[in-house]
Amino acid sequence: MDARDRLIVALDLPGVKEAEAMVSRLGDAVTFYKIGYQLAYAGGLSFTDALIKSGKQVFLDLKLHDIGNTVSKGVESVAQTGATFLTVHAYPQTMKAAVEGKRGSKLKILAVTVLTSYDDNDLTEAGYKLGVGALVGQRAGQARDLNVDGLVCSAEEAANLRKIVGPGLSLVTPGIRPAGAAKDDQKRIMTPEKAISAGADYLVVGRPITEAADPKAAAEAIVAEIKQAKV
Ligand code: C5P
Repeated sequence: MDARDRLIVALDLPGVKEAEAMVSRLGDAVTFYKIGYQLAYAGGLSFTDALIKSGKQVFLDLKLHDIGNTVSKGVESVAQTGATFLTVHAYPQTMKAAVEGKRGSKLKILAVTVLTSYDDNDLTEAGYKLGVGALVGQRAGQARDLNVDGLVCSAEEAANLRKIVGPGLSLVTPGIRPAGAAKDDQKRIMTPEKAISAGADYLVVGRPITEAADPKAAAEAIVAEIKQAKV
């Protein structure tokens, strides 16, 4: 895979106008964009089409979770947008329904095992018996068995998850910071080179690019770091 295609820029911006301006500043340095809650609920779903028509790939980070029929029909609709990745929460019913819903399309389903803002106490409070490590492992195994296409995980989890899911699933990792960059609110961060060397296939990067004085140069520097990694 071209190093450039491993970088996914998170368009965590308030509206389509801001997103269009960022995409135009980044030009051919970036080929893959992530649209999450903020932009999606501000008209960003329709921006997917424009991005795809201009030759970019789109990751819709919508983290779906509902009854199976609703998930499956929702994913059928998302598949028609031409997006490449869609996230769902890693509940067996939800993952199964999503895999059914995308059938026959090029859409790939990524499962979010346990949100990285959750620790063991949060899981206990939410009624779970397992701690974070055990639940992540259990859900990764279920994702593999249900033919999910990939997992969103922290770069720290990548090496361990690779052992559980094998080579067939894509590992997509946020929490990436080039050496010396601000951590923002991320707690567990890794450099682009280390994350790829640890087994990540794609890196999701937001603020280190979108808030840089020169976003295009920041993106190019990250791609250069990806090229240094041993894969
Ligand atoms: O700006 P920053 O590089 O921290 O953005 C990371 C992106 O990845 C954000 O869109 C954030 O919502 C997303 N993400 C994350 N941690 C997760 C899952 C998604 O930071 N566990």
